[in-house]
Amino acid sequence: QKDVYILGIESSCDETAAAVVKNGREVLSNIISSQIVIHRKFGGVVPEIASRKHIENIMPVIDEALSQAGVGMEQIDAVAVTYGPGLVGALLVGLSAAKALAWATDKPLIGVNHLEGHVFANFLADSELKPPFMALVVSGGHTALLKVTGYNSFELLGQTRDDAAGEAFDKIARVMGLPYPGGPEIERLALGGNDHAIDFPVARLDKPYEFSFSGLKSAVINYLHNQQQAGREVNRSDVAASFQRAVVDALVKEAVHAMQHTGYNKIVLAGGVSANKTLQNTLAQAMQGIGAQLVHPTPILCTDNAVMIACRGYFMYQGGSFSPLDLNANPSLKL
Ligand code: KG4
Ligand code: ZN
Repeated sequence: QKDVYILGIESSCDETAAAVVKNGREVLSNIISSQIVIHRKFGGVVPEIASRKHIENIMPVIDEALSQAGVGMEQIDAVAVTYGPGLVGALLVGLSAAKALAWATDKPLIGVNHLEGHVFANFLADSELKPPFMALVVSGGHTALLKVTGYNSFELLGQTRDDAAGEAFDKIARVMGLPYPGGPEIERLALGGNDHAIDFPVARLDKPYEFSFSGLKSAVINYLHNQQQAGREVNRSDVAASFQRAVVDALVKEAVHAMQHTGYNKIVLAGGVSANKTLQNTLAQAMQGIGAQLVHPTPILCTDNAVMIACRGYFMYQGGSFSPLDLNANPSLKL
């Protein structure tokens, strides 16, 4: 059987990325140009600046991905690109580059859902991974439980009603004066803390597989405010650890519930928050307790990258799922 080479392109938020993946499982190159230090000054991603930086970076990043992989466009079988969800101006840069490249070199275009891309990063972590399996998607904008019933079929079980898990990390970090992005900062601060020091409540929902983090966010903000008003010293590590535990407990509880209900025996973590070691360890332990197995991507493939887009693109290629050249960006594309 002929080898399949996919060029992946990603520009949905503040990373400009390109990668070449062979047969969906072998990473030939993984180039990521991060804008984090630029946006940090503003405490979060500034969409206009992100678009402009993507324009500057996109062609050099694609060139670098091809040259590091040692392949020319003539060897590439298809161009896979994120077309949503994300910032519309940012998405359009990668999408326009991909469409131009596909058209000029007469290669098929494959529009990829960024969240499905995150799920597929796990195919690089576990060479045995095959559907069906469960996915817990925890990114900056999304929190969801998803059944992966086939390589190209999914079933959404439930998602967050308000804030995403990553968003909660980012907002609490911001309130505590920590730099953007807040997730890794909270994780670091929590290392020295007592995760049972403060009992932050997490909303109880009547529907299974759903999440809500906005009440938790308010509880942490109120706690910090009240301590300050009372002139009491706050143990910041305890706050970070207790907040992180509350988020992780809510995620793990629903994940366990979903596994028991479906009888699945494998779950994958997907999205930026999957880089969190406490989440990885707590979920792995809970899965072991019910005879299931956790898979999570390597750290570099947890956050935004183009390897995952190329990998998702490979399975869409195999399924004959191609996109027209007039494909538009969809900032609110759903799972
Ligand atoms: O998947 P991602 O890179 O971008 C989106 O698609 O949203 O996820 C970014 C999110 C941010 O909210 C960031 O704070 C969070 O992932 N994150 C983490 C960690 N690393 C990144 N959250 C908790 N712990 C981490 N180690
Ligand atoms: Zn992402």
